[in-house]
Amino acid sequence: MSIDWDPAAREWHLRNGLTSWVLAVLPNGWLGQLHAGAPLAAGTAYGHLGPRDFRGFDNRVGEPVGLALPVPGLGDFRVPGLVVEAADGSQVVEPRYAAHRILAGKPPLPGLLPASYAEDGAEADTLEVDLRDEPTGLLLTLSLTIFRDLPVVARSLRMANLGPARLVVRTAMSATLDLPDDDWRLVTFSGAWARERMPVDRPIVPGRQGVGSLRGGSGNEHNPSLVLRRPWTTESAGECWGAVLAWSGNFLAEAEVGHFGTTRLRIGLHPEQFAWPLEPGASFATPEALLAWSGGGLSALSASLHEILRRRMARGAWRDADRPVLLNNWEGTYFDFDHERIVAMARAARAMGVELFVLDDGWFGARDSDDRSLGDWVADPRKLPHGLGALAREVRSLGLLFGLWIEPEMVSADSDLFRAHPDWTIGVPGRHRTESRQQLVLDFANPAVVDHIAGAIGEVLAGAPIDYVKWDWNRFITEPFSPTLPPDRQGEFSCRYTLGVYDLYRRLTERFPHILFESCASGGARFDAGMLAWAPQAWTSDDTDAVERLRIQWGSSFAYPLSSMGAHVSAVPNHQTGRTAPLDFRAAVAMFGVFGYELDPTALSADELAAVRRQVAFYAERRQVLQRGRFTRLRSPFEGDGNETAWMVASADGSRAIVAHYRVLQRPWPHRDRLPVRGLDPRARYAVTCWTSFEAPMPTVERGGDELMAVGLGIEPPDPMPAGGGTGADGHRLVRGDFSFRLFDLRRLP
Ligand code: DGJ
Repeated sequence: MSIDWDPAAREWHLRNGLTSWVLAVLPNGWLGQLHAGAPLAAGTAYGHLGPRDFRGFDNRVGEPVGLALPVPGLGDFRVPGLVVEAADGSQVVEPRYAAHRILAGKPPLPGLLPASYAEDGAEADTLEVDLRDEPTGLLLTLSLTIFRDLPVVARSLRMANLGPARLVVRTAMSATLDLPDDDWRLVTFSGAWARERMPVDRPIVPGRQGVGSLRGGSGNEHNPSLVLRRPWTTESAGECWGAVLAWSGNFLAEAEVGHFGTTRLRIGLHPEQFAWPLEPGASFATPEALLAWSGGGLSALSASLHEILRRRMARGAWRDADRPVLLNNWEGTYFDFDHERIVAMARAARAMGVELFVLDDGWFGARDSDDRSLGDWVADPRKLPHGLGALAREVRSLGLLFGLWIEPEMVSADSDLFRAHPDWTIGVPGRHRTESRQQLVLDFANPAVVDHIAGAIGEVLAGAPIDYVKWDWNRFITEPFSPTLPPDRQGEFSCRYTLGVYDLYRRLTERFPHILFESCASGGARFDAGMLAWAPQAWTSDDTDAVERLRIQWGSSFAYPLSSMGAHVSAVPNHQTGRTAPLDFRAAVAMFGVFGYELDPTALSADELAAVRRQVAFYAERRQVLQRGRFTRLRSPFEGDGNETAWMVASADGSRAIVAHYRVLQRPWPHRDRLPVRGLDPRARYAVTCWTSFEAPMPTVERGGDELMAVGLGIEPPDPMPAGGGTGADGHRLVRGDFSFRLFDLRRLP
């Protein structure tokens, strides 16, 4: 890995053998993007890839120009990466090269911006290019970090007003990327509550296309990530790009096809409802975007994003630790519980093999329903007469960890906090405040509010032995306004809210470094790379239906690692869809995530408890591969009739792999099928054990890695058997009926 500077050509080449980015100072001082993507040879100048003798857009015809920091008003009419308004109201600035630095490692971003990091100088190199707009005194610093082992570049932009007059930043993208052609399809991850991150894959057309959020959080409607793929790119072959934004608030992610058939990708803060004034001497920094390139298909692209997010965005004691199997009481009790009931559930959970008990919403204030008490973070003496500490200690005495739900950014109108501080709530004075789920949002742009909540939650976490926190956020922001900001700074509000959230995360994670944080927002409404910097796992969706989860976890896996995706087995009929899927099928799906249960274990029959014990044991034995292995998508629930899904996880050295195949509905007389897998050692022999329930596996067979990858695992048709199931001649349970699955455990033989 290195960043080469060629002073004669005035070109930088960021390269690591996996990807190359070539930037250049164009003859007019602008910053050009000559290449990004496939690795190119070092020691060669690439100026011929860019515009010839580019001196601006005067009388220019017929030649596309790749720019690394596009601005408006100078002849490039595509979407800009940066818009700054000068004191005279003009929005024309012309950033020209001033200086650059090549640094070993990766400097942190200023303030509270979450960002990827390098643990030492050998892991990454960073290029910082300073650009100046002389008339205004605006200094821009574009930062590009290339990682040694991944085809990933982290990009962000800082700016400082070194001039005499006030400037206003109106658009500040974390990244733009100019690609020389438009032969791409755009994939975004969209949906709604309970059906988050469904891949939406379409051809790109002239003009702009993309997604964004103006909800005050990244949202369940669209995710701050996107993929560009060639029309012929598949999971296992072909070129593609992925971009993720390390930010949890309003965002924009889009692609624009220009009239010369070029594509400009941009991702960053949503420019609407945004304006950041820069007084003389002041500075501003964008969040970070991570841009990954793959020449080997979509699963390889995802694997790179998973690596950077799991290993170099997530941090803290839990980053690499085995995540505990949890049981959450929410769907088991909702608000209806007390000390005795929770202890009984915890005891039953322990008997299931669960390692962490999570007490969800309803433990504080007088919270018998969702219309009150948010903000009053004191245990409800009616439900928990011995206090939270006593409950936590009793649960822990059973040999479990204890976790707690909080929703620190919210307040109920019916709460002591709201009665004492109505002015701490987001809203425009004199106007109606829109309620959602009967709650209001605290003004986290006001540091006094963050101080108060840090104190109140800090007291809760210090007052009981708490090992895990589920941090929820159950509504979007309306009437965005903070009375603590002057009128001409209200455009900062949304950013400041998100920075306030990060400030609370920083304080709590610093004060309680042993706690495992899981972010949550009505399920997956703030499932983004920014959150992963504070909370290494997130609640993927409120939809726990196993069939829906196949689609949700498939879509989420494009950008996010399995170690970040909370996935629970819940009761049937499922509370979101009413579907009744077998217990083992539900578990086989949830294992491809951070595994847990969300039901009342005291309501399970003896047979079900025995089944759950087997599931937990199966998962625990394979947890390291499932949580930290390389994930590959094999068969999409979005293709064909969506009846089948297959995916796999393999250890980095190919010595162990877990492959899952799911079939939702049984079809009559199905044919014999083969499922080729990936990431094995082609020269090795593997012991292959297939589980169609967690009761007992089929007899282990031996196969070559070459055969398993070239021909595949056998997805056998159901054997003839009496209606209702049966046992085959060799003793295995026969597979027939809806909701069948096969989990193949592959071990390399010595
Ligand atoms: C929404 C979350 O996604 C659920 O898991 C649960 O914690 C509820 N909020 C509690 O109000």
